[in-house]
Amino acid sequence: MKNANETKFVAAIDTSTDMLACTVARIDGADGSIDVLASGDHLCRRHANVELIDTLDATLARAGVAREQLDAYVVGRGPGSFTGVRIGISTAKGLAYGANAPLYGTSTLDASAWTAWLAGVRGLLGVAADAMRGEVYPALYRLDDAGVCRLFDRERVVKAAVAVEEWAGRADAAELQLTGDGLVRYGDRFEEAGLTSCIDRSLWWPSGEGLLRAWRVGAENADDVAGYGDPALVLPIYTRLSDAEENERKRLGLAQSEQGQTTGVADELAGRHLQFRPMGPADAEAAADLERSCFADAAHAPWSAAQFLEELSPSAAVPRSWWVAHDDGELVGYAGGMVVEHEVEILDVAVVSARRREGIARKLLAHVSYDAQMLGCTTASLEVEAGNSPAIALYEALGFTRVGVRPGYYGHGVDAAIMKAELPLVLPVDAASPEPTAAVVRAWPLAEPERTDEETAELARRRLVLAIESSCDETAAAIIDVEGNMLANQVSTQIDFHARFGGVVPEIASRKHVEAIVGVIDAALEEAGHALGLSGGTVAPAELAAIGVTQGPGLVGALVVGVAFAKGMAYAANVPLIAVNHLEGHLFANLLAQPDLKPPFIFTLVSGGHTMLVHVRDWGDYQVLGETLDDAVGEAFDKVAKALGLGYPGGPIISRLAETGDPKAIEFPRALNRKGDYRFSLSGLKTAVVNYIEQETAAGRTIHVPDLAASFEAAVFDVQYKKAWAALRETGAREYCIGGGVAANPHLRKMMMKKLGRQGVRVTLPPQGACTDNAAMIAEVARRKFERGEFASLNIDADPNMTL
Ligand code: KG4
Ligand code: ZN
Repeated sequence: MKNANETKFVAAIDTSTDMLACTVARIDGADGSIDVLASGDHLCRRHANVELIDTLDATLARAGVAREQLDAYVVGRGPGSFTGVRIGISTAKGLAYGANAPLYGTSTLDASAWTAWLAGVRGLLGVAADAMRGEVYPALYRLDDAGVCRLFDRERVVKAAVAVEEWAGRADAAELQLTGDGLVRYGDRFEEAGLTSCIDRSLWWPSGEGLLRAWRVGAENADDVAGYGDPALVLPIYTRLSDAEENERKRLGLAQSEQGQTTGVADELAGRHLQFRPMGPADAEAAADLERSCFADAAHAPWSAAQFLEELSPSAAVPRSWWVAHDDGELVGYAGGMVVEHEVEILDVAVVSARRREGIARKLLAHVSYDAQMLGCTTASLEVEAGNSPAIALYEALGFTRVGVRPGYYGHGVDAAIMKAELPLVLPVDAASPEPTAAVVRAWPLAEPERTDEETAELARRRLVLAIESSCDETAAAIIDVEGNMLANQVSTQIDFHARFGGVVPEIASRKHVEAIVGVIDAALEEAGHALGLSGGTVAPAELAAIGVTQGPGLVGALVVGVAFAKGMAYAANVPLIAVNHLEGHLFANLLAQPDLKPPFIFTLVSGGHTMLVHVRDWGDYQVLGETLDDAVGEAFDKVAKALGLGYPGGPIISRLAETGDPKAIEFPRALNRKGDYRFSLSGLKTAVVNYIEQETAAGRTIHVPDLAASFEAAVFDVQYKKAWAALRETGAREYCIGGGVAANPHLRKMMMKKLGRQGVRVTLPPQGACTDNAAMIAEVARRKFERGEFASLNIDADPNMTL
């Protein structure tokens, strides 16, 4: 929108409140004036995900603007209902991404103030937006003929009573006029305190035009506040942490001496692959070594081990957060920051030279800034040598912008660039995935690819299907062609962020999906571009043949992010949408290993949320023979690991320990063992394990953890085998397959292969990497639906309770 003199078409949307705001306008290139062409603003409680795209489509039609003509999107970033904000932002990200158009974010509270201004309100205005649970987002503005002026610095949340008291106590309280959807619930309280002047009730919600006004003002005052137009950089405004984080924040504040504590997962898996955990005193020497090797030629002196130890000291005056990355027991990187007021100052970032293209620095910074957020920070700042362009590009990709220079800071003639970013930072793609040309801030919109005729023909022939998965704690994207060639498979896991809570925290999961989704899809499009040898290296959204997305089952707050994004992207890129059942995805993961697998067969689904024995009579014709009555198998692994203090997730940890244990050492119960009973129950086994641990500990005996792990596995897998074999005999099926996170377990895989193989059953196992949640399996389902033309409408919502 900058330096553009032509007239532009813009769509503004906001679903942070019960108002579905959706307005299409023309912005005059010469004077910047906003000319509203059509508005579809309407109240729509908890229905935004269903109605948003249809409303946009209808509004565009009334405006006489085609979707391809839109030059930019504007979205309200809240604060507001967490799910509402996420639906609006995810849809807007998808729209802008699919259209390759810029996306700008703006405060929903500012939009409410402008909504009042547009209706002629002038003077002192208080917006009290509903924050649920007895709280409001209070925001004061001064309105005059020139426009709206904020009288506060950053958005916050307070108890309704606090807002009432603050405002009623003002010297100018008599002048104050009120608005905001918080008045629906708390209007009486403001009135009782003498604040009786409310503007017309029809104006209590933000309008699309208000949003456009708020955005234009932000855009004029500070060119780049709203980001570069890159949809990856637009994130919700949060004023409150999740409950789990609030507790963790207390822990960070109260118990700084626990600095050396690790998350458990990290150490157990240290020998396995790249891990992230808080830095402990034992890391100081290795960190100082790495520091010396990284900053040998830098203008400033490298940190010493003693300095690192000082940073980790519990008596440090202000809170610190330091994280390390290690692989195979070796320290490969670290980053740290210090909290000053509401800002985290990044003090140091280093990664061994051989591992610099894997996104390690970005991930470390994401952890440090996440801790900082829990300590109340809203921004991050850092200083970097002005000539260090790779580092500057890295920080820009995380959302940092240059705000100043310190001349000669690193010695004569070596300036420091001062950079700042709003928290949260933009999450990187998982280090396990091949990284795209990572740390380069992109000019948005992207340059349209120039294709040769052969390339265009090849893309048309391939018919690429993009699949998106966000049902739990992995944000994943894969691209498959119509023949079944997997051209990209990207996954960004959030495990590190949940590990400290001992399980997936739904609110954190959905936040992380919003932060990661654009990066993951970028990486997938780029991986596919390289696989196809395209000039320009990446596939453009409009070159896709369809977009598939996991509709359910899963965590509703996590699912909505993928579903809303996919709908927005499909609409803007004008390609069909395909809805995929996550459980069917786990089943279809088998086709990645055995394309000729054909029903009828017996399928065991064992994941973190499900345990099922299924007779697959035909594709799409599933007879569920039995399910778990209580815990899922993966859940039992997680709970046992937690009881042993081993960290999260439990499956990989237990299976690794079990390698050296004796499965016959401890006799654990096998539940529902009767013939013909295909139901499962795991809570009794879990209790037996916990009792065993307590009993042995009380008796003063040390627990042989590998034996315990192996015996627990044996009890679980024994039952799985018996019921699967019984089902095979009963149905006469001669084929068997398995799926879900627990299917990654090597002992389960070996056992089924051996025992069922011996009975003459052909056993199919998904590739090990396709067992835990991933998008390749979703892509396989989507591809088949695509071939059959089974498309979804753009008013689908996430369905957390979907079954097979
Ligand atoms: O399928 P999945 O990734 O997520 C759901 O859809 O639930 O499954 C995750 C579950 C976790 O409970 C995890 O502990 C378990 O799969 N898991 C394993 C192993 N790897 C992951 N369980 C046993 N052995 C493993 N090697
Ligand atoms: Zn799953």
